[in-house]
Amino acid sequence: MNKDNSFDCIDAGTENCPCYLALTGDCLMCTRLQGKDCCDCNWKGVCIYNEFIQGNCKVNNPRRDFEAAIVDKKYYTDDLVIFVIQVDKGFALKTSKPGSYLFIRGSNQDSFYDTPISVMKADAEKGYLHLAVKSISAKTKSILDEDEKLIIRGPYRNGIQGIREVFDKKNRHNKTLVIAKGIGIAPGLLLADYFNNLCQVDFIVDTEKISKEFVKDYLSEGSSTVKYMNLNELTAQGNIKNILIEKKYETVLILASDYFVETLGPLVRDALKDAVIAVSNNFHICCGEGLCGACSCIDNEGRTIKMCKCQMKQE
Ligand SMILES: Cc1cc2nc3c(=O)[nH]c(=O)nc-3n(C[C@H](O)[C@H](O)[C@H](O)COP(=O)(O)OP(=O)(O)OC[C@H]3O[C@@H](n4cnc5c(N)ncnc54)[C@H](O)[C@@H]3O)c2cc1C
Ligand code: FES
Repeated sequence: MNKDNSFDCIDAGTENCPCYLALTGDCLMCTRLQGKDCCDCNWKGVCIYNEFIQGNCKVNNPRRDFEAAIVDKKYYTDDLVIFVIQVDKGFALKTSKPGSYLFIRGSNQDSFYDTPISVMKADAEKGYLHLAVKSISAKTKSILDEDEKLIIRGPYRNGIQGIREVFDKKNRHNKTLVIAKGIGIAPGLLLADYFNNLCQVDFIVDTEKISKEFVKDYLSEGSSTVKYMNLNELTAQGNIKNILIEKKYETVLILASDYFVETLGPLVRDALKDAVIAVSNNFHICCGEGLCGACSCIDNEGRTIKMCKCQMKQE
């Protein structure tokens, strides 16, 4: 398990560590909690084994479902709704970190309706969270039916692959570009808010399946510049490459489907050799805890990687 340290666990060292995987000897980071009799991990934070033993071998702060009142609900299109929900201020503060998402379901639904939804804006002063939900099928349609309250669980942190490197690289001069299509804009808006005072975050946005009015409402404050572009147009890739070379971005986020991650990722790398690249976590995420296996993929060495927990290290 993670012998060559090719990934970090997003929850390691947080208030949600040790987690359920420690109970069964499956911690992603700690060799002692994997059943070995020696410490052979590369984790540089607080010792997970020590925390587990000191905490009476229990899960630290297990995430629980709770009800959140809907204080506002706005339709931008027939199938795109922004919910503003009330949570406590501490919870709102925790979810303000880029990459945060929650599990959400309608108040009368069973837990198998739980849907991962990104935190788009976290107003810690009021305890308000803004969530954009695009209605597609059973789960998201049932969320759109709600007017009074939602059941939520969180916060979960692994909504963006590469977010660890984005944090490591952040400094006052860092230039960041977010390329977003559709609902992928939601985690990009949270990131722009979070880094607002630290550095400039520019956007290239494809508004297909969402609406320009929605982007304008949420990007009107702050210093971000926004270019609207149809990423499917033949000229789009050339235009993006020119922008990357001209502006010399140090961090680029591609928040879109895997198709665009796979086409634009190499283009960004080609234009900016040293840039940090981070992308949407588009895996199927069902428990978020590294347990159900919905998000699993197999690496080159045949190991199972739980993509709801793992931050893959960039080469
Ligand atoms: C980290 C993360 C953040 C997300 N943030 C948002 C958001 O802010 N707003 C938003 O509208 N949507 C977001 N999504 C996508 C949303 O979870 C799916 O659209 C939803 O689960 C679809 O369920 P459905 O029953 O309506 O439709 P389905 O017809 O069941 O699915 C529609 C599409 O969503 C995919 N999907 C279904 N279930 C999941 C799942 N558990 N995890 C990931 N993809 C799934 C399907 O493969 C298909 O491509 C996010 C997904 C992830 C993983
Ligand atoms: S979503 Fe359940 S293991 Fe990752």
